[in-house]
Amino acid sequence: MKLKVKGFDIHAGFLDITAQRSVLAAIRGVVADAPFFRPETPYGKPMSVRMTAAGKYGWLSDKKGYRYVSSHPSGRPWPAIPADVLNIWRDVTGLEREPECCLINYYSAEAKMGLHQDRDEASTEWPVVSVSLGDEGLFRMGNVTRGGKTESHWLKSGDVVVMGGDARLAYHGVDRIRAGSSTLLPKGGRLNLTLRVVT
Ligand code: SIN
Ligand code: MN
Repeated sequence: MKLKVKGFDIHAGFLDITAQRSVLAAIRGVVADAPFFRPETPYGKPMSVRMTAAGKYGWLSDKKGYRYVSSHPSGRPWPAIPADVLNIWRDVTGLEREPECCLINYYSAEAKMGLHQDRDEASTEWPVVSVSLGDEGLFRMGNVTRGGKTESHWLKSGDVVVMGGDARLAYHGVDRIRAGSSTLLPKGGRLNLTLRVVT
């Protein structure tokens, strides 16, 4: 399905339940090595989303600002991006270049993410690929400049989104989580993986 902003593609139901469980098991392995933490905005406000990452780089936000770093707050390097997750990237982008970061966001029922652009990467010529698991999230897509009309879409467990082209720098965010809409995660909530080329 394509929305108005060019380059924004939703592959609805891309992962069946077996594939979702397999990706989830791999992500659990990552989280065991690199536990979730709650980043703070540069203004010192804790984010509602909990984060961790896999790959050469993970994304961090704290009083020093937004940036990619090569280790988890524990000081250890980030675990490798699981093969299942790299396969999704290859399948939907057809690119040989591999992502260097798989950012892992966990949204509890109350969590959300304000409209923002992904622009901490060295180049925006590469797409960002997002994988949703667990409860549905109301995803909002705006424009490359702040303001104007936005489009909202409920992302379900197993949906894969590609943001490339004009959509690569479009404002986007998650307004709310539909608690109890999926049984994939025993404790509920939504996991979102975003794959990014960083350097
Ligand atoms: C993000 O923009 O980093 C996450 C988007 C999402 O949770 O769907
Ligand atoms: Mn983003």
